[in-house]
Amino acid sequence: MTNGPAIGIHDLSFATTEFVLPHAELARHTGAELGKYHVGLGQRSMSIPAEDEDIVTMAASAAAPVVARWGADRIRTVVLATETSIDQSKAAGIYVHSLLGLPSSARVVELKQACYSATAALQFAVGMVHRDREQFVLVIATDVSRYELGSPGEATQGAAAVAMLVGADPALMRIDEPSGLCTLDVMDFWRPNYRSTALVAGRESVSAYLQALEGVWKDYTERGGRPLEEFRAFCYHQPFTKMAYKAHRHLLSFTGAEVEEERLSSALGLTTAYNEVVGNSYTASVYLALASLLDHADDLTGEAIAFVSYGSGSVAEFFCGTAVPGYREHLRTAAHRAALDRRQPIDLTAYRALHSRTFPVDGGHYPTPSQTTGAYRLASLSGHKRVYERR
Ligand code: HMG
Repeated sequence: MTNGPAIGIHDLSFATTEFVLPHAELARHTGAELGKYHVGLGQRSMSIPAEDEDIVTMAASAAAPVVARWGADRIRTVVLATETSIDQSKAAGIYVHSLLGLPSSARVVELKQACYSATAALQFAVGMVHRDREQFVLVIATDVSRYELGSPGEATQGAAAVAMLVGADPALMRIDEPSGLCTLDVMDFWRPNYRSTALVAGRESVSAYLQALEGVWKDYTERGGRPLEEFRAFCYHQPFTKMAYKAHRHLLSFTGAEVEEERLSSALGLTTAYNEVVGNSYTASVYLALASLLDHADDLTGEAIAFVSYGSGSVAEFFCGTAVPGYREHLRTAAHRAALDRRQPIDLTAYRALHSRTFPVDGGHYPTPSQTTGAYRLASLSGHKRVYERR
């Protein structure tokens, strides 16, 4: 089902951090067998922010090339989706709006619902473009995943931002109706306002994800969605890449389809390349899976791509996107590769120092050590304000 004029993703760009911690380094110190990380979780390394990086600097880095390509004039709305918020009141997107020089005639808001909120942002953006086909909505998903040192979740940390320009007659991907939705009140993963690391019931969170998957698939089919076999690939939320395989195996058996390894790798294989080396980027993760698919697949023109978005707590959504003719001319494959390759590997001592840092809360002036070589940096915390600069 396509329903009405084409609206969807016009451009997509991602950014990640200055540093990267290889799981081989983590394993040397945790004593875990490397196979558990590489095979059991499907993770090889994780992005770690420098002291002068945060969700704003990553978001600006992801969105800058999009604005450079299409201009700022038609952007009427910026929606920044995150669960790593830096302020209880001010939307982080306003700092990004300022760093990118976006017009004052654009509204800016922040959305939160664990790893799901970028999907809500995307769907809301599609609705806004239906109302005014001339406008672009800039959707930015940006997150830093942090668990306690020594916890089972530690090996599934990561960080990234994905910027998507949503508009009419999209250059990359049409977003189709219907959506399958599922909201369930579960405490599988959460982060109270006073904590900087998430609390998680690990195994229960995996079951909660699978239960929500059943819910979204049921709703999707009841609303006249496509049969499973029509999808060429599946972009799942990937807290760790093996979760996509667990989920797809579950969906195949839930629908009575045969679970063959070949079928699994052809549906998922190209969607996990970025996540495997970035780690969990929370709400950006499902769109990092899309970037990986688009950058690595042969021609997908006209192919139906499934999206499975899951945010603990929980809200989930299943929907379809269709790659449009000519989309390959607009990809940013080389820039994405460069964003991964430019990261500097760090050792466990440096990682632990970054993990344990906290911001002073007394309102003094605290310049931030200059560590990132990226275009945007958090220069200081001064008088309770974050001060950003552009190089
Ligand atoms: P754990 O206890 O460290 O690991 O927790 P495990 O013992 O379950 O092992 C993991 C896998 O590695 C197992 O495979 C082992 O067999 C295998 P499985 O049974 O799952 O197929 N393994 C090995 N394989 C090869 N060689 C070896 C070896 N050793 C073991 N030598 C857990 C794992 C995922 C629970 C933990 O990492 C965790 O708590 N992670 C954080 C929570 C999470 O990611 N949950 C996922 C669903 S919830 C979600 O996606 C939402 C989220 O993104 C948040 C949001 O929405 O905002 C988290």
